Amino acid sequence: MRSNNRLVVVSNRVPPSEAISPERSRDMPVGGLVSAVKVAMQQKGGLWFGWSGGSTQRRSSDQPEVKDLGGVKLATIDLSEDEVSLFYTGYANRTLWPLLHFLPSRVIIRRDLYRAYRRINRKFAEALCALLEPGDIVWVHDFHLFHLGQELRRLGWEGKLGFFLHVPFPSADIFSILPWAGDTLKSLLSYDLVGVQTERYLRNLIDSLDTELDGTYTDGVFTAEGLSAKFGVYEIGIEPSIFQQAPDDRVRSPMEKLSISTAPDHKIILGVDRLDYTKGIPQRLRALERLLELHSAFRGRVTYVQISSPSRTRVPEYIQEKEQVDRLVGHINGRFSEAGWVPIRYLYRSFPQHELAELYRDADVGMVTPLRDGMNLVAKEFVAAQRDDPGVLVLSRFSGAASSLVDAVIVNPYDIDGTAEAMYRALRMGLSERKRRCSAMMDAVNKHTATSWSEAFTRDLSET
Ligand code: F6P
Repeated sequence: MRSNNRLVVVSNRVPPSEAISPERSRDMPVGGLVSAVKVAMQQKGGLWFGWSGGSTQRRSSDQPEVKDLGGVKLATIDLSEDEVSLFYTGYANRTLWPLLHFLPSRVIIRRDLYRAYRRINRKFAEALCALLEPGDIVWVHDFHLFHLGQELRRLGWEGKLGFFLHVPFPSADIFSILPWAGDTLKSLLSYDLVGVQTERYLRNLIDSLDTELDGTYTDGVFTAEGLSAKFGVYEIGIEPSIFQQAPDDRVRSPMEKLSISTAPDHKIILGVDRLDYTKGIPQRLRALERLLELHSAFRGRVTYVQISSPSRTRVPEYIQEKEQVDRLVGHINGRFSEAGWVPIRYLYRSFPQHELAELYRDADVGMVTPLRDGMNLVAKEFVAAQRDDPGVLVLSRFSGAASSLVDAVIVNPYDIDGTAEAMYRALRMGLSERKRRCSAMMDAVNKHTATSWSEAFTRDLSET
C-alpha cells in the first residue's frame, strides 16, 4: 500500500479508545477481530469506523462522533434500541451467526430482521461516505456488514473496497436456507477483494456463488451480472510477542491468585472462550466428566479452569447456553469434589491479554474445541505463550486454526469419548513430544501473524 493511501477500516464493533494505545492495549480484553485489526491500525494509522456499542431510546443520530487519537481516528455512530435489537441481536446474531457456523436448526428467518439489517448497512454507508477521501483504501470486516460495499458503490464510492469474513462460510446447501442468499452473495461482488480464513471456507463460498448466481470463476475472480470480485485466503493471526513477554514477578500470577497449584504433580487443563454455543463448552465439560469417570487416578490431581467471557448476553440462545454451562459445572463439581479439591474452576469474566498469557503458560493442556470457528485466536495465543516445558494444545478439527496448527492433538468435539481420550493423552504426554509439537506450531503461529495478515490483504487490495 502506498503511504499516502489512508486505511479505512469498517467493523460493527470498534474498540474503546484506550485499547488502541500500545501501552494500555495489553490490559484490555478485546475480541478476535478487534485484536487483529488493532495491530494494522497501530502500525499504519488511519480511520476506524463502526458502531459505538451504545444505544439510545430516541431515534439514533446519523452523524458520527470522531475521536482523534494521533495516528488513528475512531469514528462511531449510535444505534437506537430497536436497531440494536433487530440488526445486531436479531439478524447478525440469530440469523447469520448460526447459519455461517453450520447450525441451521438455530437459524431464525424473519423478514423484518433482514430489512433492518439492510437499513443499518445503508446507514453505515451514508455516515462513512461523508468521511471518505479520494485514495482511501476501505476495508470492511465481517458478516454484520456484507452489504456495506454495495451501498457505498450506490453512493458513488469508486475507490478500493475490500471485505474480510472472520467467521466460517458453510456449505452451499446450508447457505441456501437464507431466503436472501443470492442477494447477499451478489453484494460481495461490489468489493474488489473478498478474503476468508481457510481454503475450505473459500471453496464453500465459491460453491455458493456458483449455486445462487449465474457466473464464472477464473483465476480467483468470480464474475456475474456485470460485477466481479477477486477471492482469496488470508489466515488471521496474533502478534506472538504480546504473549511472550516476561511476567511481572512483583505481582502474584493469576493461578496463584485463584489458589490453583502449579506444582509438577498437579495438572491444569484450561479453556478460554467467549460464552458462545459455537465454542463447544458443554461438550468439553462432558468430556472432562468422562475423563474423571474413566481415569479415577486424576481425581484430586487435575483442575479444569474454564474462563468464559460474557458475550451477547441479551440473545436468548446465549442465555440458555449460560444456564446449561452453569448446570453442568454444578453437576460435575457436585459429583466429583472431595475435601480440598474441586475439579472445575469456572470464571465468568474476561481477562486482559497479559494475564491470559500467564494462564496459558501455567496450563498443562489448552482445550480449544469449538463446534465450528472461523480461526480461533485462543489456540494461537496458547501456543505463543509456551516456554521450555510446554503445554499441549487439544484443538477441534472444526476450527480454522486446525488448518495450520496440524501438530496439535486434533479432536472431533462432538465425540465426547474421543475428546476425553485426547485429554488423557495430552495430560500424559512426555516432554520431548510436547516440545516437538509446540515448536512446529510456534513456526505456524509466527508465519501467519496479525501483521502479515493485514499486510497481505491490503497489498492485494491495492493491486486489484
Ligand atoms: O468472530 C466473530 C466476532 O464477531 C468477532 O468479530 C468478535 O471478536 C466476536 O465475534 C465477538 O462478537 P461481538 O462483537 O458480537 O461481541
